[in-house]
Amino acid sequence: MYKVVEVPNEILRTKCEKVTKFDKKLGKMIDRMFDTMYEYDGVGLAAPQVNLNLRVAVVHTDDETGPLELINPEIVEANGAEIDDEGCLSMPGVFGPVERYESITVKSRDRLGRAVTTKANGFFARAIQHEIDHLDGILFTDKLAETTAEAPKDVRVVFMGTPDFAASTLERVIEAGYDVVGVVSQPDKPVGRKREIKPTPVKAVALAHGIPVIQPIKIRTDYEELLAMKPDLIITAAYGQIVPTAVLDAPKHGAINVHASLLPKYRGGAPIHQAIIDGEKETGVTIMYMVDKLDAGDMLSKVVVPIEEKDTVGSLFEKLSVAGADLLLETIPPLVQGDLTPVAQNEEEATFAPNISREREILDFTRPGEDLYNQIRGMNPFPSSYTTLEGARLKVFFAEKVEGNGTPGEIIRLEEDGPVIATGSHVALKLVDLQPAGKKRMDGQTFMRGVGQALTLGMKVGVES
Ligand code: NI
Repeated sequence: MYKVVEVPNEILRTKCEKVTKFDKKLGKMIDRMFDTMYEYDGVGLAAPQVNLNLRVAVVHTDDETGPLELINPEIVEANGAEIDDEGCLSMPGVFGPVERYESITVKSRDRLGRAVTTKANGFFARAIQHEIDHLDGILFTDKLAETTAEAPKDVRVVFMGTPDFAASTLERVIEAGYDVVGVVSQPDKPVGRKREIKPTPVKAVALAHGIPVIQPIKIRTDYEELLAMKPDLIITAAYGQIVPTAVLDAPKHGAINVHASLLPKYRGGAPIHQAIIDGEKETGVTIMYMVDKLDAGDMLSKVVVPIEEKDTVGSLFEKLSVAGADLLLETIPPLVQGDLTPVAQNEEEATFAPNISREREILDFTRPGEDLYNQIRGMNPFPSSYTTLEGARLKVFFAEKVEGNGTPGEIIRLEEDGPVIATGSHVALKLVDLQPAGKKRMDGQTFMRGVGQALTLGMKVGVES
């Protein structure tokens, strides 16, 4: 038997290679794929899901159509369209509506290399299309059909959250027509240079809609007011305090949380930062039940969001907050209906994304350029990363990967649009978005016309002077 790989994983995004050798090994592999599919209780399995880069899939939806092996499959005819829910062994607990052809004709090979033509319709056709997508690196969540789930009107919702990420989610929940009977947010804090006391972003949204707000200093002991709101469902998003079991157990539909990662990966306070710092190609949002252990509750739904090469925490944050609100609005109706099956997290695969400590902001140019590149965008716009230039702090918001070798930290080229710094690998970094001490943030060109004039080749950044 094979082990099924789960998102995020590069192989699930790979366009697979055609099979050219029809030997015994191929037959054995296909048998093992069938065993794996039956063991995992699936109706289809594609080679990339078991870490094999080959255009091979197996499908077995019912006794009537029987087991089918597909090698180098191609859809040669397709008719009709149908929307129905799908799931995937590589995304346990995730389901969503996808539009597929109602009937298809597929040409493929069997394990001996013989040409096979298969006509399929309905669920059988759907399963085949899902597996062929896998061979092209496509997941069903890339194709989710727009569904407008009606907001159940008789559910009393209490929303708990604090920052912008949560405020836009609350806004969407209100817009969708939910009966938000109360909002819980952290106490107001002084912000900015003037230390003005300002309402939290979530409180501001609530007040604008005339929704009562409570701001207990310690929700752990001070929750009577919340319970008096008689919630049927509690939604939390970046609230900022541990919520006690007495609160989590109170609503009949439970307390759910919107978390910006594909759990069990990146539990904790900085999942967006850490995914970029680690150079991940995709992340996402998970909605789960809240339990008294950090981000460890059973999962209700997930959505995958790609991380582009130039994404920063800022841009990814925007994408995830939209995707998270969409997912929440898709999840609540079936949750309230009792149509969702919560899926436990695999504790063995849990990883953590702790809040970013001060020392992680420092750029160590002895590290490979690729890693530094990810660190820089994984800290942009906050808390931001920095090095030093002649002993003064130089914040770096973005860099370009360019070729160049030298002693790590050495300025190896002075270009019109930024200085090029050598790293611990052959990938050098051109600093193109930066902020020298005591100055505003500026692009590389502006920097080179000002502070950069004093730079000379061979100077080093990151050294004490
Ligand atoms: Ni699948």
